[in-house]
Amino acid sequence: MTEHTAPQNLDAAQAKAELTRLADLIGRYNTAYYTHDAPEVSDAEYDALRKRYDAFVALYPEAEPAESPAHAVGATPDSAFGKHRHLVPMLSLDNVFDQTEFEAFINRAVRFLGLSDTQTQELAFVAEPKIDGLSISLTYEHGKFVRGTTRGDGTEGEDVTANLLTFKDLPQTLNGPAPELIEIRGEVFLSKEHFLALNAAQEAIGRKPFANPRNAAAGSLRQLDARVTARRPLSLFAYAVGFCSDKLPSSHSAYLEQLKAWGFPVNPLSRTLEAASSAEAFFEEVARARAGLSYDIDGVVYKINDLTLQERLGFAGRAPRWAVAWKFPAEQAITTVKSIDIQVGRTGALTPVAHLEPVNVGGVLVARAT
Ligand code: IVH
Repeated sequence: MTEHTAPQNLDAAQAKAELTRLADLIGRYNTAYYTHDAPEVSDAEYDALRKRYDAFVALYPEAEPAESPAHAVGATPDSAFGKHRHLVPMLSLDNVFDQTEFEAFINRAVRFLGLSDTQTQELAFVAEPKIDGLSISLTYEHGKFVRGTTRGDGTEGEDVTANLLTFKDLPQTLNGPAPELIEIRGEVFLSKEHFLALNAAQEAIGRKPFANPRNAAAGSLRQLDARVTARRPLSLFAYAVGFCSDKLPSSHSAYLEQLKAWGFPVNPLSRTLEAASSAEAFFEEVARARAGLSYDIDGVVYKINDLTLQERLGFAGRAPRWAVAWKFPAEQAITTVKSIDIQVGRTGALTPVAHLEPVNVGGVLVARAT
């Protein structure tokens, strides 16, 4: 067996060994990314690993390790910060990479809802760029900002209120009528320009540069001294409501309008699509705009617009059934293999590891490949 052997070519014992290996790797890469803000592999390699994991679980559900890190959302909050429990869990999104996978997502939702052909054709979406930053939950009581929390493990996050108070984009008071209690979700990011300036400044004082804007944003927000965060020009886009004590609009597009009216920055490229058939054209449009944007994006998020349908669809594991992330294809790079070793896993599986001339792939310096 190699790490490329298809699941259908393995027996149950081999599948179990492979699932254990994949789960261990996913756990290790989660910690590097979420706890240390220092990814070990490119997003594409990570996504490929998860895809392989899911393919094995689909064929051998009984071989899945208990408490698999593959079901985790993010990582345990760092104990250096105060912890806060989200009123509604902060989950992740399933990924698709092409039109066929996107259609499979639509078909699953349509089947779950039992929609007719006409209803399916009229199913509207909101499409938004997928911002490559870190997610944040913002709590307002009677329109006043009281707390901001990172996603953490999805249930409990790190309290980064003091750091968020240094943001120029974050409304401290909501404009107009506001609910008694609301949790607003969004993404914190650092623009490409500020990322380059920050890295130049880091290098000038002999510090290690950040791998990419996402890591720089995470490292800048998760600071114990808010004065450090204050010197980093972080930005924010709001894109969802987690919890709200009052009645909200009946569509996601109306939510976004409400978020704007309250004073939040909402991504200007977000668009309501009247049917799933326009998803691919919008994806291509965003892909063309990507290089010219001042911030990093890694795909397009599609959300069923009708909130009643969202509620009926609910969640499956760590992701909603009513939204999906259509990700950009993996970035590629050319480098030289310096040497190859064979690694022996805990289960005896052999994995060849290539040591490479380090090369930047999608913002991560890659020095080894399996
Ligand atoms: S909606 C229930 N919208 O992508 C999940 N997420 O890979 C609701 N992200 O955890 C998330 N841009 O940190 C949503 N426009 C957008 C987003 C977005 C970036 C992040 C978010 C999420 C991750 C999932």
